[in-house]
Amino acid sequence: MNRIAVLTSGGDAPGMNACVRAVVRTALNFGLDVYGIERGYQGLIDGDVYQLNTKSVSDIIQRGGTFLRSARCPEFVDVKYQQKAAEVLNAYGIEGLIVIGGDGTFRGAQALSKNFGINVIGIPGTIDNDLGYTDFTLGFDTAVNTVLWAINSLRDTMHAHDRVSVLQVMGRHCGDIALYSAITGGAEYVLVPEVPYDIEEIAKSLKKTKVKGKTSNMIVFAEGAGDSKEFMDKLQELTDMDIKYTSLGHIQRGGSPSMRDRLLAVKWGIHAVELLRDGKDCIATGIKGDSIVDVPFEDVFNVKKVFDIELYNKLKLLTY
Ligand code: F6P
Repeated sequence: MNRIAVLTSGGDAPGMNACVRAVVRTALNFGLDVYGIERGYQGLIDGDVYQLNTKSVSDIIQRGGTFLRSARCPEFVDVKYQQKAAEVLNAYGIEGLIVIGGDGTFRGAQALSKNFGINVIGIPGTIDNDLGYTDFTLGFDTAVNTVLWAINSLRDTMHAHDRVSVLQVMGRHCGDIALYSAITGGAEYVLVPEVPYDIEEIAKSLKKTKVKGKTSNMIVFAEGAGDSKEFMDKLQELTDMDIKYTSLGHIQRGGSPSMRDRLLAVKWGIHAVELLRDGKDCIATGIKGDSIVDVPFEDVFNVKKVFDIELYNKLKLLTY
C-alpha cells in the first residue's frame, strides 16, 4: 500500500484533529502518501480530496472540531453513491481509508470494502459514547468535562437562590454524557433514555430533601429521555419550587480536547495506519481497560451498548 486517505464523518468530536494529525504524521513516517477528504462521505462523493503534508496538521492538536470538516451523508447507504466514492478513491490511487466517526461511518466504510475492495479502518469518534465494543469513544471525555463546567456554574447560582436546575445535555439514544456528568458533577438526579423515570417520585424526593434543609438541586436530563421542557413544567406544578432550565446544546461538541481524548487520538491514529500498512481491513480500534483493541466491524455491529446501570444506581445513594 502506497497511498491512504482519512476522513471525519457524522457529528464532530473533540480530538478528531489530534487524531488526523497522528494519522498524517505516522503515514508520512512510514513513507506513505496521505490524502484528506473534506466533509466525510459527502466530500468523497464530490471529489473534495487533497494531499496532506506534515505542515497541513501543524497547530491543530489542541483544536476542537475537525479541520477536514464533517457531514452526515444518509444517501451513502445507496450503492450508487458508494460507487461514485470508490471511483474518486481509484482516480487518486488511494488504496486504504481511515474513517473517524460513529456507527454509520463504520457502515459506510464497510460497504466500500465489501463492494469495492478498499481497505478500511475505523476510529470511534463521537461524543455520545454509544458504541458497545469500546469503553470510550473519542470526544466523550471532553464533552463530559464541558458539561461539568456548566454544572459548576449552575450550582453556584442555584445555591444562591435556592433553585432547582434542569440541565438538558446531548444523547439521543445513549445516556452516558448525562450519567457521567451527573455522577461526577454532584447532581441529585439523572434522566436517561435507557431507564424510564417517575416524575412523581422525583417530586416527592425533592420535597423530602427540602424539609431536611436541601434548598438547591441539579437534575441532568439526556435529550433522549423525553421532553425536558414538559418535564420541567410538570415538576414545577408538582413541587412549587423555583426551577430554571438550561439546554447546553452544541457547546458540548466543541472545545479543546482533554488529555484523555488527545491520548486516545494519538494512540488510535498511529495504530490505524499500522493496521492499514499491515494489510488489515474492516477493523475498528477501541479501548478496553487500559488496552488498545482491534475489533472486526462485524463484531462492532453485533455488540450492543450496555448502559452502566450500577453506576446509575450509585447516584441514588448519594442523593441527599
Ligand atoms: O454527535 C452526536 C450528537 O451530538 C447527539 O448527541 C445529538 O443528538 C446530535 O449529535 C446532534 O446532531 P446535529 O449536530 O446534527 O444536530
